[in-house]
Amino acid sequence: MTPSFSFHLQAQCSHTHARAGCFTTPHGVVETPRFMPVGTLANVKTLTPAQVEATGAQMILANTYHLHLQPGETIVSKAGGLHSFMNWRGPILTDSGGFQVFSLSEIRSIAEDGVTFRSPKDGQFIHLTPEKSIEIQNALGADVIMAFDECPPYPASREAVIEATQRTYRWLKRCVVAHQRSDQALFGIVQGGVYPDLRQEAAEALTELDLPGYAIGGVSVGEPADLIEKIVQTTAPRLPAHKLRYLMGVGTHREMVQAIAAGVDVFDCVIPTRLARHGSAMVRGARWNLKNARYKEDFTPLDPDCSCYTCQYFTRAYLSHLLRSQELLGYTLLSIHNITELVQFTQQIRAAILADRFANEFADWLQPNAMEAA
Ligand code: GUN
Ligand code: ZN
Repeated sequence: MTPSFSFHLQAQCSHTHARAGCFTTPHGVVETPRFMPVGTLANVKTLTPAQVEATGAQMILANTYHLHLQPGETIVSKAGGLHSFMNWRGPILTDSGGFQVFSLSEIRSIAEDGVTFRSPKDGQFIHLTPEKSIEIQNALGADVIMAFDECPPYPASREAVIEATQRTYRWLKRCVVAHQRSDQALFGIVQGGVYPDLRQEAAEALTELDLPGYAIGGVSVGEPADLIEKIVQTTAPRLPAHKLRYLMGVGTHREMVQAIAAGVDVFDCVIPTRLARHGSAMVRGARWNLKNARYKEDFTPLDPDCSCYTCQYFTRAYLSHLLRSQELLGYTLLSIHNITELVQFTQQIRAAILADRFANEFADWLQPNAMEAA
C-alpha cells in the first residue's frame, strides 16, 4: 500500500463482522461505514459540491465510461484533474467503466484484450482495455481507481461466470502493471456471480495481490435479495481485515445493514438521486411519492427527525408542488434529503458499532422480513 493511503480499524462488533474504521486518502478521511453518493458525470445530479458536503458525504464517485465519452479525460486532466474540475476537495473514486460498458452500451464484443462497444454519443466504436481504463483513470486523478472487470449477468451459467471471473482476474493483473500513480489506490473487484465457491476463490486470489482495497462487484444485477445477502456473507469476511471493503452499486437501508454485518465498509448507489428525479422521498427505509394528492396540503416537514436543509426549511406541500410542476428545485431539495438520509443512516450505524450496540440496535433490519416499503 502506498503511504498516502491507510485503513485503520477503530472498532469491531462483538456479535457480527461489522466494523468501524478510517480510510485515509490524499484528499481526506472517510469514516466508515459510509454511503458514497454517485456523481457519474463529475457532478452529483442537481447538487452543488457544498450541498453534497452538507449531507455528510465524504467520498463521492465518478465514472470512467461517461467521462471518457464526455468531456474526455484530456479536458479533465487539463483542468488539473477531477478534484479541481468539479471543485470537490474530498476523496473521489472512479469506477473503471467495465460495468457501464456491459450495462449501457448496445453493440459490443468481449475478447481477452478488452471490450469493443459503440459510443451512444456518436456511434463510433470504442475499444476499452484494462490498460486504457487505467490510463483514463490516471488522467482523471481520483483517489481510488477501480480495476477493469467483467460483470457476468444474472442469471448466467456456472461456466460463463467462471470465464468472466477468471478474465476479471487476468485483467486485474494487467491493471496493476499499467497503474502509474502512487497517489491513487487501485482496488480489485471480486466477481463470481451467485456461486459461493467461485466468490471464495476470487476473494482469496485477489487477497494474495495485496491491493490497497477490495470491492465486491456483480451484485444487485437482478438476483433475489436473499442471494445478494448470501453472496456478501460468503465474500466480505474472506477479504483482508485491514483493507477497505466496498460493495458496489448497493444502497438500500436493509442491504447496507446486512452487508455491514458481513464486514463491508462503503457503498454507492444511484438510488437517492434517481428516486428524487421521480419525486420519491426515502424516509426511514420507506419510499413516499410526493406527487401523491395526500401531500398537497401537508404543511409539515418531510421528515421532522431529519436535520437536512430540505427538512429544516420546506414542507411536504411545497415539495409536492415543485415536483408536480417539474420545477428543478424539487429535484435538488429531494436529492439533498435522500442522500442525507442514506449517509446519516450509515453514520448512525457507525456510532452504534463504535459503542458496540450495532447488533442490538439494528436487529430489526437484520431479520429476513424487515419492513421495507417498495
Ligand atoms: N458497479 C456495480 N457493480 C459493479 C461491478 O461488478 N463492476 C464495476 N466495475 N462496477 C460496478
Ligand atoms: Zn431531510
